[in-house]
Amino acid sequence: MTLPQAKAKHDELAAEIRRHDRLYYVEARAEISDLEYDRLYRGLVDLEKEFPELATPESPTQRVGGEPVKAFTPAAHLARMMSLDNTYSEDEVRGFLARVQKLAPDTKLAWTVEPKIDGLAVNLRYEDGKLTLGATRGDGVTGDEITANLKTIRSLPLRLHKTRRKWPGVMEVRGEVFLPKAAFKKLNEEQTAAGEETYANARNTAAGSLKQLDPRVVAKRGLDAIFYGVGHVESDDLPATHGEWLEWLADLGFRTPEKVWRCESEEELLAAIRELDKVRHDFKYETDGAVIKLDDFNLREEIGYTSKAPRWAMAYKYAPEQAETRLKDILVQVGRTGVLTPVADLEPVFLAGSTIGRATLHNEDEIRRKDIRIGDTVIIEKAGEVIPAVVGVVMAKRPETAAVFDFVAHLHGKCPVCGQPIRRDPQYVAWRCENLQCPAQATRRLEFFTARGALDIESVGGIVADKLIERGLAKEPLDLFELKVDDLAVLNLGNEEAPRVFGRKNAEKAVHAIARAKTAELSRWLFALAIPEVGKTTAGQLAKFHDTMEEVAVSELLADVVKYHETEDKDEAKALEERLLAAGFAERSKAATKNAGVNTEIGPVVAKSVLDFFAGPNGKAILRRMKELGIKPKSEKAAAQKASAGALAGKTFVLTGTLPTMSRDEARAKIEAAGGKVTG
Ligand code: IVH
Repeated sequence: MTLPQAKAKHDELAAEIRRHDRLYYVEARAEISDLEYDRLYRGLVDLEKEFPELATPESPTQRVGGEPVKAFTPAAHLARMMSLDNTYSEDEVRGFLARVQKLAPDTKLAWTVEPKIDGLAVNLRYEDGKLTLGATRGDGVTGDEITANLKTIRSLPLRLHKTRRKWPGVMEVRGEVFLPKAAFKKLNEEQTAAGEETYANARNTAAGSLKQLDPRVVAKRGLDAIFYGVGHVESDDLPATHGEWLEWLADLGFRTPEKVWRCESEEELLAAIRELDKVRHDFKYETDGAVIKLDDFNLREEIGYTSKAPRWAMAYKYAPEQAETRLKDILVQVGRTGVLTPVADLEPVFLAGSTIGRATLHNEDEIRRKDIRIGDTVIIEKAGEVIPAVVGVVMAKRPETAAVFDFVAHLHGKCPVCGQPIRRDPQYVAWRCENLQCPAQATRRLEFFTARGALDIESVGGIVADKLIERGLAKEPLDLFELKVDDLAVLNLGNEEAPRVFGRKNAEKAVHAIARAKTAELSRWLFALAIPEVGKTTAGQLAKFHDTMEEVAVSELLADVVKYHETEDKDEAKALEERLLAAGFAERSKAATKNAGVNTEIGPVVAKSVLDFFAGPNGKAILRRMKELGIKPKSEKAAAQKASAGALAGKTFVLTGTLPTMSRDEARAKIEAAGGKVTG
């Protein structure tokens, strides 16, 4: 194939893929199967392998795989990105309409009402129909350049579609990036499965995703975007109203608001706002209001702007969804570390698109502050969060018999699961069950132990962990290593009436996976044991400086860190500093305050927590048992030390173009193994 032939084929394939992307991601009506789509896509990838010059930035293959960057560069918008003033009541909306009417006294005004998407504003720049720049809003004048991250959004056109109007030479398109409700839910399910904390709301998660330096991470999040506006445009052939603009944006290939009302009177407009409030919960993304805009563009210019917002537009914010229901009881859940969390057991009630039977009560102090009592009619609220919360009590409906809630009396001073005493440290808000053998804690710990981020023993997650504890086959994570295929095969995952056994095949697989975990990396083991204060990063740092769990348990480095932060003796501090520096466990800090001449890899609180854990009876028992069971976590120290002493330590590399003998990924791996860093 000659280059011109390849180019023609590439154009054809790319156009076909763009058409299917739009059908699938924008219009939600796919015409072909995933398999057929993959075939088209692979055709394009193959062509570009043979003719790399065809892989232009707007090729459909260029959505993923951008290299991580060190920091974002500023990008100035060609026209300022303004914000909106807010209203919270229908009266305020009436006031706004009257103000605008006063500025255009003899004109019949037409308005549009559309959803206010709860996401982040972005600005895209297209030049001759090609996406050349994507940026966050920033301060409205300058944002961060995040083109590679935005390209991962599949519904966003890398090239504008052809329409009746000609492409503007330069055009800025504005819209909102968000994490769809389903993607947010999926992400949180993955977090839970990996034993990590869930994200609280979709908007912040979308913001965090957009700010990722690595586009490959962004691609996995499943962000989406809707466009509703324009900034700077160079063209003499433009629509005259907002309605026409939205139509044109859709024709150009953008996803636009799914419902827009055109209103010619105050009453029509208020009705539209009320109707939007009814239907918005069925949208695939979170909305927090309605945006009211003057339809006619010439009129908009007459009405004008304040320093930060247009005078011709307004946001109407819906109050967070609330519902009233009866608090039947207060349940108390026991977490992995024994923390007791009060949860409202509610008369089921429909709220913001789903039926709610449980809501969080946070902790004892919150219940006292709001004076929440069993039997009360309570107000629950959901504002884009995963779990609804009880925000208050309807005092007028309080039954005479409702007694002040006493957390400890409610539990008879005992853990609701194991019946052992509970304790509240004055410096914390939570009560805890102190019994490490508590089945509830044991279950949570076992789930955590086997989760993806920890030892990754897939076949022993959730329900299996639950049943192992319930049936007494395991009391703590290390018991897993003594499970026999025969015991596991007959494990009933259902109940007495509807039994559902685990089965021999699954049992064999599980025992295999468990045995494999005996030699998992030390960092995974340190994380899996749920040592207080030890997260994934800390576990990784500990494994960099110690070969075995025993070494961590009596670590001199950790002891030095604790001493260093406690000592009053200048000479001792100096000596400790030298030792920590020599071990590579600290580096000189610029802010030389008392005993802070160096920054240690791990701080004193964490260091003490680790040492205390292993010095206590529980930690000692774990070490002993690991030895008996022949568990030998794999050391990562040598590899880590080699990397940091490697020929390329302290050096940073940027890989561009093609390398004759290896792929960029291979090159990256080699550089990193030699202690170097690779950035975009
Ligand atoms: S128009 C000059 N329309 O809300 C007018 N904004 O609170 C600019 N937003 O910064 C905004 N949905 O990030 C407009 N349909 C919509 C919107 C919308 C969400 C965001 C946008 C804006 C913020 C203002």
